[in-house]
Amino acid sequence: MSYQTLYAAWKADPEAFWMQAAEAIDWVEKPTRALFDDKAPLYEWFADAKVNTCYNAVDRHVEAGRGDQTAIIYDSPVTHTKQEITFSELRDRVAQLAGALRARGVEKGDRVIIYMPMVPEALEAMLACGRIGAIHSVVFGGFAANELAVRIDDATPKCILAASCGIEPGRVVHYKPLLDGAIEQAAHKPDFCVILQREQEVADLEEGRDLDWHGFQFGAEPAECVPVEGNHPSYILYTSGTTGQPKGVIRHTAGQLVALNWTMKNIYNVDPGEVFWAASDVGWVVGHSYICYAPLIHGNTTVVFEGKPVGTPDAGTFWRVISEHKVRSFFTAPTAFRAVKREDPDGTLVKQYDLSGLRAVFLAGERADPDTITWAQTHLGVPVIDHWWQTETGFAIAANPLGVEELPVKLGSPSVPMPGYDVQILDEGGHPMPVGELGAIAVKLPLPPGTLPTLWNAEARFKSSYLEHFPGYYETGDAGMVDADGYLYIMARTDDVINVAGHRLSTGAMEEVLASHPDVAECAVIGVADALKGQLPVGFLCLNAGCAREEAEIVRECVALVREKIGPVAAFKLAAVVDRLPKTRSGKILRATMVKIADGESFKMPATIDDPVILEEIAVALARLGYGKKAS
Ligand code: COA
Ligand code: AMP
Repeated sequence: MSYQTLYAAWKADPEAFWMQAAEAIDWVEKPTRALFDDKAPLYEWFADAKVNTCYNAVDRHVEAGRGDQTAIIYDSPVTHTKQEITFSELRDRVAQLAGALRARGVEKGDRVIIYMPMVPEALEAMLACGRIGAIHSVVFGGFAANELAVRIDDATPKCILAASCGIEPGRVVHYKPLLDGAIEQAAHKPDFCVILQREQEVADLEEGRDLDWHGFQFGAEPAECVPVEGNHPSYILYTSGTTGQPKGVIRHTAGQLVALNWTMKNIYNVDPGEVFWAASDVGWVVGHSYICYAPLIHGNTTVVFEGKPVGTPDAGTFWRVISEHKVRSFFTAPTAFRAVKREDPDGTLVKQYDLSGLRAVFLAGERADPDTITWAQTHLGVPVIDHWWQTETGFAIAANPLGVEELPVKLGSPSVPMPGYDVQILDEGGHPMPVGELGAIAVKLPLPPGTLPTLWNAEARFKSSYLEHFPGYYETGDAGMVDADGYLYIMARTDDVINVAGHRLSTGAMEEVLASHPDVAECAVIGVADALKGQLPVGFLCLNAGCAREEAEIVRECVALVREKIGPVAAFKLAAVVDRLPKTRSGKILRATMVKIADGESFKMPATIDDPVILEEIAVALARLGYGKKAS
């Protein structure tokens, strides 16, 4: 079947399309229908079904005779460890962990926060929650205690599953003090914490609250899979929005099962039994969907990689893992390839490994620049597919569906909309833009199964963030265009979100932190173009009148404050003190103009600017930081 035929079939009858996809899932009670639209513009899929995520990701493969197949390959160059876990072993480990959680009172609907590095136990924790219908919320290890505290207060977990430490090249990340600090800061207190003690660091356990990972499971009765409703939340994943309060994206159980399973063959072109590797982190949506759920639901072997594209030990690590574990389909972020390319521009290390089993590479998380795609195509000799999606959608909005038809690649485009997504380019008034013209990217409602039905405890915010600007549509927050062949081009965010090394961050959240510094009267953070990380945050600080302290000292404190409050992942290292910020006469900070100056692009002087001279001061400050050139 061609892509055109498939997409047309979906458009002609979306419900029939998804009901057919749903046949690949093992239901306790089958859904009577696909779409539940009685609360439109809020939609649900397969709401009246009964099903279990863990059963579909683990047990059913054992029952189908694939128990000896490897489910998880753990490859950790930072600890020099390799381990394989079969589906049978995974079922037993997950059932035991789930049983121990249940014995301590964790039940269907209870929240469990998971704060763990890239170890198989992180996936086991996620699956154990699914087994008993608990709702997990995984928090990325690069976030600071304060960010963890915000999530604890929003999700109000009954327990937290954590590891003693994570390992970054050159340093051990002490998870336990971060966890303790977060619990102290948070108003909500979990009943208990379970700590996976790693060899690299044994953490102090707090008596009465903290339990040892293995000890607490000893003697527990293994838990069976608990059937849940199709619209039962499988997880909450917090993602950056405009403010410091992250958005709790939720995913419903049945939609996630159906949609993710569908993508494995149709987009990633792998068959059950083959090895699939997403080199991301369980703390991000890519990790949820493509390290944990999709490959396991589809019966693939997944790789849990604890390392970096470079430096662990070298820029050949990706190729070693691909050849050693016979990876068929590989998923990473463009920034990872840029890091590899910088160290090995001629692909010398690529040639040292047998990559003949690799069929395709997929890139997402940020705009894939043509140079990086061309470099990867040249050296790997397989299709390099850019695809576009978001935490909110959980799977690709636009892609080149290799399992259906390999469409011609157009550099700079993540190709075409996937079934489920009627993508439109709109002007400010919500009218469709002509072909080739830039506008806001919106998706006609309803969104497909597996996407966010709402935000955790924040329905009003869900509506105001995504549904109100363009009634009848989901607003993606991205701007872009479509060409005459229907290929999409994703150009920029329309909000205060920036993308640093494939990590989604909020400049608004950084501004909130900077504004809390006692000497800062006003501030702005923008994302400037960076050759390695795509974007980097740069801060501008206006100090309180009469502040006589040394500016460099204040900048250093501000950099440290963002690291302490948001975490190292914010990569906030550049800031300048300026007298004033450029604003419109109504007081809006002209961030977009500042970005253009930083990126050396020409710009039109905004007609509403309060005082144009300030832009010159900004240009001087940026030049001192090594950015920008003279405006036109
Ligand atoms: N736990 C604790 N700290 C973390 C962390 C984690 N899980 N992940 C990153 N950090 C820290 C890093 O150590 C670094 O700290 P530093 O300031 O002390 O050096 C900081 O956060 C910034 O990290 P990052 O922006 O990732 O930069 P880097 O220089 O460490 O690595 C790359 C650069 C390109 C190699 C790396 O960003 C990368 O592999 N990116 C791919 C991202 C990805 O897969 N994203 C998922 C979307 S698909
Ligand atoms: P996240 O929610 O962290 O996955 O980030 C989602 C955002 O990353 C999107 O809204 C885009 O701005 C950006 N993004 C993800 N994939 C792509 C892509 N293939 N091309 C351009 N931007 C992308």
